[in-house]
Formats: sequence, structure tokens, C-alpha cells
Amino acid sequence: MSVRTLGVAVVGFGWMGRVHTQAYTRVPHHFPHLGVRPKLVAVAEEVPGRAEEAAERYGFGTATRDWREIAADPRVDAVSVTAPNFLHREIGVALAEAGKHLWIEKPVGLDASDARAVADAVAAAGVQGSVGFNYRNAPAVEAARDLIASGEIGTVTHARVRLFSDYAAHPEGALTWRYERARGGSGVLGDLASHGVDLARFLLGEIDALTADTAVFVPERARPAEATAGHARAAGGEPGPVENEDYVSCLLRFASGARGVLEACRVSVGEQNNYGFEVHGTRGAVFWDFRRMNELGVSRGTAYQDQPVSTVYVGPGAGEYAAFQPGAANAMGYDDLKVIEAYRFLRSVTENTPYGTTLTDAVHSAAALDAMLRSAESGGWVSVRP
Ligand SMILES: NC(=O)c1ccc[n+]([C@@H]2O[C@H](COP(=O)([O-])OP(=O)(O)OC[C@H]3O[C@@H](n4cnc5c(N)ncnc54)[C@H](O)[C@@H]3O)[C@@H](O)[C@H]2O)c1
Repeated sequence: MSVRTLGVAVVGFGWMGRVHTQAYTRVPHHFPHLGVRPKLVAVAEEVPGRAEEAAERYGFGTATRDWREIAADPRVDAVSVTAPNFLHREIGVALAEAGKHLWIEKPVGLDASDARAVADAVAAAGVQGSVGFNYRNAPAVEAARDLIASGEIGTVTHARVRLFSDYAAHPEGALTWRYERARGGSGVLGDLASHGVDLARFLLGEIDALTADTAVFVPERARPAEATAGHARAAGGEPGPVENEDYVSCLLRFASGARGVLEACRVSVGEQNNYGFEVHGTRGAVFWDFRRMNELGVSRGTAYQDQPVSTVYVGPGAGEYAAFQPGAANAMGYDDLKVIEAYRFLRSVTENTPYGTTLTDAVHSAAALDAMLRSAESGGWVSVRP
């Protein structure tokens, strides 16, 4: 089998930049039949020395502080945009216009107009675009979707999607780009609820309308004295205001008629990546918790009342599980979801047809988040139209 080389680049080398890079290198290990070997051509990073360090560690041929060099580099076919949210629109549009395929992190910009601008640029350029909604790549989530679609739990009546984390709970958590409107956009909405909306749509279809409430629980944080990556601390730094929400609760009405509740919080002490869903149908239910990624709780049968819930360990028949382990109940991890995402992105590029998430998913998610903000302001129900 001939193996094609595809030039890839990464813009922004913080947490996600590293995860995307590692995912590219692992795709040929897990998906050899794809026949593509990503070549790490270039990395762009604003913090002095960080791109060079990434090049040294992972083998990028070129390290730069200017992402525009990547847009102009003919050796680059595809680019990961893993910079902060306020840069997604400018960088995403410019790269698409330069003919680069895009794997861009959620939430794709500061709001729905940014996501739409990137989606339009990708469509106009005829390049492929994938988005970092990694949780739908979990084999158990795909199995849950299949179970729901098969009708085995009956007609879906209602669902809960939760995303609770403590990553911003520490009072010394630094005032990074995430807490500023201009650089982060929304707070927990873009950071976590964006994933929740994508999961809800993936499992249950489009959302028609919603009503939401938001709150800021840690109103002030210390400014970091030096460059940050991920969730840094800044004890003793000059205090500044948190400009976006820590918490959202939201009622959802799906086009199917099902009802839903979405709740997300970034300052939940005692919660570490408590992400998951519970979907109820007229005859059964299905439950998933990210922390037990390959397990589903499934209630099915004809009992209606006192119907037991079984734990199902998903295996090689579910999603892309077989690319990782030969039998059920071998644990997979977060990084594996990104390997699946990288594979689907590269497959979209090689087959020139979307495979996995697209910028349309980003526009739908961002439109729902915008609607949540409007509803939190007005206090009423808001229709969701991308
Ligand atoms: N899918 C997920 O589960 C997930 C998880 C975390 C973050 N994200 C998303 O990934 C993106 C990055 O988040 P992160 O946690 O990696 O943030 P981070 O702060 O760790 O990394 C961002 C990096 O971009 C760099 N950067 C800033 N301006 C730049 C520029 N002009 N050119 C090049 N580099 C620049 C920063 O110096 C930093 O190293 C965000 O959009 C975030 O929402 C997604």
C-alpha cells in the first residue's frame, strides 16, 4: 500500500497544540489503512521559545512566531488552529483562503458570527474543516447514539447533559484569556457548554428553543506575571475582573419534541471532568460518564417500572474502538479521542468529503450558545436558528 505524506502545521502550542500534534503522529499507528502519514512541517507560537521547544520535541521542520508564514508555506496542506478563541476567525479564514484544510478547536471564535465566517471561508475555498468536539468520538457515545436511533429505548422523552469541572475553582487561578470577553468570548459556555450542545445534537438532533440562566461565582482573579498555557495559577498578581460566566443552566426543546437540561460549571469544587449525559425514552434509558469512557448504563426491556440498568462495556463493534483495543473493557483515554478526531479530519482531506465533525456543527453549537446568552439577558425562551 502506498503511503501519502500530508504536510501539517499547528498554530498555538499550549495544551491543545500538544494534543493535536501527538494525535497526528499516532494516526498511522492506529489507522494504517488510511494510507496517510502526516508530516509535522511547521509550528507557530507567540510565546518566545515555545515553538522551538515544540519543534525540538516533536520534530516540526520549522518554528515561527508568525502564523502567516504557515498560511504562505506551500509545504503545508492542513493546519490545526489551537490558539485562543479570539484568533480563530482571523487565522481560520486566512488559512482557508490560502487553501489549507482546517482542524480548528471549539468553540470556533468568540460567537456564532465568527464560527459562520470560518465556515463560509472553508466552504468558499473548497477545503475540509473539522472541529474539536472530541466527546462525540468516544466509542460509547457512538454506541449510545446507535442505541437511541434503533428505537430500543423507545421515543426519547427527555435528557440531561452535564459538564462540571473545577479547573477554574481555585481562587488563585490566573486571569488568562479565558476570562476576558475580548479574547475568550463567553466563559463556560464556549469552553464546556459548547461540547454539551454538540453532544445533545449528536444524540438527539437539532434544538429548537431554549431558556438559560448564567452566573459568575469568582468575580475577580489575579493577572499572570508571565506567559500561561492551560490553567495556570497567579498567586499575588494584580486583580482583574472576570468578564464571562462561570456557570450556565439551560432548558432545551428539541425539534423532535424531546426536552432537555444542560448544566455546565467551571468552578465546581469536587468535580473533575464530570461530563456526561442521561437520555430517557418511553421504554428505556442510556447513561454515559466521560470518566468511565467505555461504559454505558443501559436500561432496556418491557418492564417500564423497576426495569434494571446494566453496565455495558463497549468493544470493537463501537465507533473506532477496534483501532485501539481488541476486546471490550480495555480503557481508552482523552488523547485517544483526539487521535480519532485527527483520523477523521485526515480522512476528510484524503477523500475530499466531510467525515466527522464539520464547521456546520460549530455554527450550530455557537448559535445555541448565543441564544443562551440572549436568554440569560432577557429571562425568556429564545429560538435557536444558526
Ligand atoms: N476540545 C477540547 O476538549 C479543548 C480543551 C481545551 C481547550 N480547547 C480549545 O483549544 C483552544 C486553545 O486552548 P488551550 O487550552 O490549548 O489554551 P492554551 O492557553 O494552553 O494555549 C494557547 C496557545 O496559543 C498561543 N498563542 C496565543 N496567541 C498566538 C498567536 N497569535 N500565534 C500563535 N500562538 C498563539 C498561546 O501562547 C498558547 O501557547 C481554545 O480555543 C480552547 O477553547 C479545546
